Amino acid sequence: MVNLTLFAFHEGTALNIIKHTKHQTERTSITPEITKNNKNAQKRTNLFLLTNSHPNRQNQKYPPNPKEPMNKRVILITGTPATGKTTLAKKLAVHLNAQYINLTELTEQENLALEEDKERETVVVDEAKMRRKLRTLITKTQKDTVIDGHYAAAVTPTTLTTHVFVLRRSPAQLRQFMQQRGYSQAKLQENLEAEILDVCLVEALQKQDKTRVCELDTTNKTPEEILREVLTVLNGKKPCFSGFVDWLGLLEREGKIDEYLKP
Ligand SMILES: Nc1ncnc2c1ncn2[C@@H]1O[C@H](COP(=O)(O)OP(=O)(O)O)[C@@H](O)[C@H]1O
Ligand SMILES: [Mg+2]
Repeated sequence: MVNLTLFAFHEGTALNIIKHTKHQTERTSITPEITKNNKNAQKRTNLFLLTNSHPNRQNQKYPPNPKEPMNKRVILITGTPATGKTTLAKKLAVHLNAQYINLTELTEQENLALEEDKERETVVVDEAKMRRKLRTLITKTQKDTVIDGHYAAAVTPTTLTTHVFVLRRSPAQLRQFMQQRGYSQAKLQENLEAEILDVCLVEALQKQDKTRVCELDTTNKTPEEILREVLTVLNGKKPCFSGFVDWLGLLEREGKIDEYLKP
């Protein structure tokens, strides 16, 4: 039995991979491959939020504001593109009668894009402005708020966030969903690598309170089943935790690492 844990994290411009396994032999055979491929993933992935904010401010915590009532829930729905965030977040917002915020729509409505990154088919977002806007939107409503976006964990004030759901989907199914959506081959590959390397989960764990990060494997589940699972966690009937999804281990067991993580 192979016990694999993968941590991918940013440090400056480099993405570092640390991989632990009980078996040294398996570790040595796999690590160079992952590290090499991961460099490509970091270079191209659109999951890394580009920002104009000062690097020293990235992990800055907001002081708690005594005027902010803490009984309102602020629920982030994050995950790799095509995992099903929007489908879930909209259903959840309707169910909770909550305010729904989609970060892509907010960027357009509030002019929060600084520039377009044509090569990576994405826009560079003004992270500081977006955080201020989110704080305003969250505090001015009496309702719960559901925030939908793959970088929600990076831009929502930590002191206001109550739950972070990181949607996961198996590489095979995610590829199928992205093909159905007509993603370009480059974007599909970049997103697949990001899902396999836990990019959204790692960002959530880095930027938010770890105990509030709930991983959710959506593979082969209907939108209704996923909603029910989220509600069970929100009701406190199911624990919120992360770290159990291991696509890399799955691909390794299936002998498909090279198929998914292309050099
Ligand atoms: N649980 C699910 N089962 C099957 N298809 C789904 C499920 N959730 C979403 N989809 C479909 O997958 C695609 C991506 O879903 P979407 O919610 O837009 O993902 P995201 O917002 O993460 O990019 C859509 O075509 C959607 O209809
Ligand atoms: Mg979406």
